[in-house]
Amino acid sequence: MKNIAIFASGRGSNAEKIIEYFKRHEGIARVCLIVSNKADAPVLDMATREGIDRHVIKKSTFYQTKDTLNLLHNYQIDLIVLAGFLWLVPSYLVEAYRGKIINIHPALLPKFGGKGMYGMNVHKAVKENGEKESGITIHYVNEAYDEGNIIFQAACEVAPEDQPKDIAHKVQHLEHLHFAPEIAKLLQQD
Ligand code: GAR
Repeated sequence: MKNIAIFASGRGSNAEKIIEYFKRHEGIARVCLIVSNKADAPVLDMATREGIDRHVIKKSTFYQTKDTLNLLHNYQIDLIVLAGFLWLVPSYLVEAYRGKIINIHPALLPKFGGKGMYGMNVHKAVKENGEKESGITIHYVNEAYDEGNIIFQAACEVAPEDQPKDIAHKVQHLEHLHFAPEIAKLLQQD
């Protein structure tokens, strides 16, 4: 049984799907901690509803101390899942959890990645670039934004009339469908 920590700063729809998945598929893993950099993020309310421990990090603590690493060790975390977490992961954490931190990105990397490329910014860029497809990328996290090795991708069509919000909708569908099972696969081949 593996222990997962989810780092999230937003709504937490992916976090919720992951929690539900591992409740339904017993014996693989459990989400035991939600970490957020935003004290008022809806994902924290969801954690409370689900009875999962939550922790809010401050920028100075995250980058200048190893408190977060101690926290993760206290919970015996095996895998860190970034699901809408927008801060760059500091190198002490990448080193301690090399190959054990994964992120989901709402586009087909290496296109449309990097600092500032998150949420609707990504979908607007996809639209402006006239892309015929978009999708999701699940990848390992290293010291640079969105550059770690790719684990899984799934694509969706972008129709000429699709607006950024329509692309967001299609991409979110793929995220909710694939993220949790891909995490399960990773943990089971470990
Ligand atoms: C997801 O679409 C995820 O791909 C994106 O944030 C959203 C979080 O949604 N992440 C990034 O853009 C990272 N660059 P959620 O809070 O509903 O799970």
